Amino acid sequence: MDGAKIPAHIGIIMDGNGRWAQSRGKDRSYGHREGTANVERITERAFTRGVKTLSLFAFSSENWARPKAEIDELMRLLETYFKKFLKKLQRENIRITVMGDISAFTVKLQKIIEKSVDSTKTNDGGVLNIGINYGARQEIAYAVNKILEKGEKVTVENISANLYTAEFGEPDLIIRTGGELRLSNFMLYQGAYSELYFTDVLWPDFDETELDKAIEEYGHRHRRFGKIEQQ
Ligand code: IPE
Ligand code: IPE
Ligand code: MG
Repeated sequence: MDGAKIPAHIGIIMDGNGRWAQSRGKDRSYGHREGTANVERITERAFTRGVKTLSLFAFSSENWARPKAEIDELMRLLETYFKKFLKKLQRENIRITVMGDISAFTVKLQKIIEKSVDSTKTNDGGVLNIGINYGARQEIAYAVNKILEKGEKVTVENISANLYTAEFGEPDLIIRTGGELRLSNFMLYQGAYSELYFTDVLWPDFDETELDKAIEEYGHRHRRFGKIEQQ
């Protein structure tokens, strides 16, 4: 039997910031600010609970289609986030990694991100993997191109080995906040056998108790990977 299990790798689609703010009569940016603050809480809780890798979807390849003012605010928040939490994550021995094509960002933001990744690369207390300008389809195309460039054969294993997440493996649990029942281009390949957890709770309201609930529910799931369950 599975016993009480903690997912080693959790992915979170952090959705609902805009609606959270709008329901309070505020603009969407306010929701993004609160959502960013929540990243800190949830990161801390996840690693305290024994999660090894936390993959957070912060900005999708398709989010560029939003109004410029909202994108500008999101870029500003990314800058602040990486700068503000670097010291704290460093103290907590957390390694920061990113998945996505960061070449689309300003040179300033790229440098800030690279500094965070570089200065935490030997930390081994947990991995905080942030999806920015990330899309799973783009990631699969990127992986296949890398394989072809090396002149290798395209195989299931080879694709896995060339994804952004190759080192961290597949998410055991994918959580989506904000009530939508879809993956919106998040970890489509490595999520093939992930347990899915959807909640109506909007991301800024998804607190430690909500994360604990998701982990608790994961503990009751039976993962079969196509096999017949052993009794
Ligand atoms: C998620 O919240 C954050 C990003 C996609 C950047 P949304 O901005 O999608 O908020 P809703 O879904 O419109 O409420
Ligand atoms: C998914 O949320 C992307 C992130 C949480 C970063 P969206 O709000 O972009 O997804 P859709 O548009 O509702 O599918
Ligand atoms: Mg949304």
